[in-house]
Amino acid sequence: MKNLIKVIAVIIGLALTAFIFLMLYVQTNWDRKYDSPYPDLKASTDSAAIARGKYLVYGPAHCASCHISLDDYEAMEAGEQVPLKGGEVFNLKIGVLTAINLTPDKETGIGNLTDGEIARAMRDAIGHDGRVLPPFMPFKLMTDEDVIAVLSFLRSQTPVSNKINKPEYTREGKWRLSTGSHQPRIIEGTPKKSIPREASVVYGEYLVNTVANCVGCHSVASIEYGVKEFEFGPLSGGVQFGGTNVNNYRFITPNLTPEKQTGIIANWGEEAFLARFKQGRIYENSPMPWGSFARMDEVDIRAIYRYLNSIPPIAHKIEKTVYGPGEEIPSF
Ligand code: HEC
Ligand code: HEC
Repeated sequence: MKNLIKVIAVIIGLALTAFIFLMLYVQTNWDRKYDSPYPDLKASTDSAAIARGKYLVYGPAHCASCHISLDDYEAMEAGEQVPLKGGEVFNLKIGVLTAINLTPDKETGIGNLTDGEIARAMRDAIGHDGRVLPPFMPFKLMTDEDVIAVLSFLRSQTPVSNKINKPEYTREGKWRLSTGSHQPRIIEGTPKKSIPREASVVYGEYLVNTVANCVGCHSVASIEYGVKEFEFGPLSGGVQFGGTNVNNYRFITPNLTPEKQTGIIANWGEEAFLARFKQGRIYENSPMPWGSFARMDEVDIRAIYRYLNSIPPIAHKIEKTVYGPGEEIPSF
């Protein structure tokens, strides 16, 4: 009997020690830093580069749908050039992250970040301080020309002072940061210098998979785990947004592949696709940045349509994409 008590005490003691070590490990390791070379790209004052950058930021690359104050959201969607002063809050499992002030203000914005630091954040998801950034900016393969355009536009803005809260990580977030399960997402490939802007499959592929990140929202598992793991195949839809509360609107992304029975656009013509994008937002809470995409020009929208029609059809039935308050989402 005594021996049994001893054994149990030793086991409890060991478990407790292991737990304390684990907590210490998380406490000392969650703030780990990453490194990668800074892209050798510099902002220019060329007016064509600045105009292209502004188009990308407010249009297909939709930086403006996150890096503004929520008070300005409606005006941004309506086509106004609201300041990129940051402040939108993202409540994630790993913590509360706030989109930073992207205006060139020295104290509160990107005034003290170098071009290399900003370009690396876009391409490698590593912050200026070496911190891992969320997989919201998967611009690894954005061409040199377009990254330069974005940098040139960002530098050309009027500075706006707006102090942004530092990220606050949850216990789960710190655990994932310390164990490296939340780390900069690696997107394979080498960025090109430039890609001709025309209504081609090649340019459409670039917009869908790199600039506009359609692939991130319209493919299961790509948001959290990286582009390589697609449960049903790329662009076949099925990602749920809006949480589990049935009193809210919730959304499921449609299948964008050209599969006749289950692909949402498989039976839309190119003109209908163009018209849908020009129409913009229908559902107030849809996470799709419709306002930004409505600013895309015809060439870009046609390129996207042509690319989506060139990819392998995948049969993946999404019953419905919009669930109103009180509606149960069937499991599928
Ligand atoms: C889906 C929302 C979203 C989009 C789209 C987005 N960002 Fe961000 N961005 C964020 C959030 C949130 C943070 C803060 C992350 C953190 O603190 O961990 C951030 C951080 C940054 C940083 C800070 C890096 C650092 O050193 O700390 C830069 C630079 C940046 N974004 C640039 C851009 C640019 C340029 C675009 C468009 C080409 C863009 N972002 C698009 C949400 C977004
Ligand atoms: C941030 C996530 C997100 C991104 C990025 C995104 N979508 Fe969506 N998309 C959704 C959601 C959610 C829905 C369903 C709700 C709705 O229709 O607004 C949707 C709906 C659609 C629809 C159906 C619209 C309708 O009228 O039924 C099409 C077509 C579409 N997306 C294409 C695209 C293309 C092309 C891109 C890239 C240029 C893209 N999406 C980027 C989340 C996203």
